[in-house]
Amino acid sequence: MGEIVLAIETSCDETSVAVVRDKKILGLSISSQIDIHREFGGVVPEIASRKHIEAILPVMDDAMEQADISFKDIDLVAATQGPGLIGALLVGISAAKSLAIALDIPIVAVNHMKGHIAANYIENDLEPPYVALVVSGGHTYLIEVLSYTEMKLRGRTRDDAAGEAYDKIGRRMGLPYPGGPVIDRLAKNGKDIYNFPRVIMDGYDFSFSGLKTAVINKIHEFEQRGEDFSKEDMATSFQEAVVDVLVEKTFQLIDESKLDKVAISGGVSANSRLQERMKEVGKEKGVQIFFPSPIYSTDNAAMIGVEGLLKYKAEGGSDLSFRAMPNLGLGDYEK
Ligand code: KG4
Ligand code: ZN
Repeated sequence: MGEIVLAIETSCDETSVAVVRDKKILGLSISSQIDIHREFGGVVPEIASRKHIEAILPVMDDAMEQADISFKDIDLVAATQGPGLIGALLVGISAAKSLAIALDIPIVAVNHMKGHIAANYIENDLEPPYVALVVSGGHTYLIEVLSYTEMKLRGRTRDDAAGEAYDKIGRRMGLPYPGGPVIDRLAKNGKDIYNFPRVIMDGYDFSFSGLKTAVINKIHEFEQRGEDFSKEDMATSFQEAVVDVLVEKTFQLIDESKLDKVAISGGVSANSRLQERMKEVGKEKGVQIFFPSPIYSTDNAAMIGVEGLLKYKAEGGSDLSFRAMPNLGLGDYEK
């Protein structure tokens, strides 16, 4: 039958609990705080922690009800250890530790970014090795995934994450938070007319802050002249630049590594243009492209459960004294 994992994710602004058996999702509940943070134009850490405390038990009940099991059926508890907001992480970790103690079962500390990568195992027959591009609100990683538990980090952003650039530009354009999905929608009806810079660095690192500044300066110029501009064209011009860089670097690593699969994940992997371009170039080069359904691409506990079980099977459980690690990197677990 396989082990049943109860997984908890509270690293940012989604409180989520999942009940997972291997790759099968028996229950998944997500309570998003986005509407609350929208008023402030971004996530307010203190509010996030309080809202996690309010939501964690109802969300857990919901996931358990969907799974239709009782607490004694659970074999393992998984919780996001980091990276994320310290106060937010602590809510999920405390709930997970309490459960592990009460039920006398093992606990496993999960790296949120590895969770995003594992989201691709839920619906796809994806097996390592492959190239993973993880693009979220806080991180941009290009990785060679060698096995289910070993990965080589090849590139990361030197400044803004891809999603962060989307959100900051969205805010400057007066769009609701988070800007990513709104820009994605606007860009469908615009033209790439501004020719914003594509910053292609040596190696596999990324830099998006120059692009972000170029877009913000362009908006500023229009405002100074008292002229209107097409939000659609601005969105398309920005998005084409981001997607060009992400696609170029990913396939550069495909060429170097001779791998033939790419799995994208993280919130920005829901971007329709990124998916479209990845599939186009993938088809040209004979490379298979994977990405999760939208529910598994943004923050959710199902991916934490799947990654938690993989880690548990490879390394065993974590010590109950494990701490929240807001800046946890890749391959940097604290046991
Ligand atoms: O992975 P995620 O839910 O949270 C983090 O761990 O950061 O990612 C959230 C990010 C936000 O920056 C949001 O704007 C972006 O994902 N995002 C998108 C789209 N949907 C979500 N960016 C571009 N296009 C989208 N369709
Ligand atoms: Zn995330």
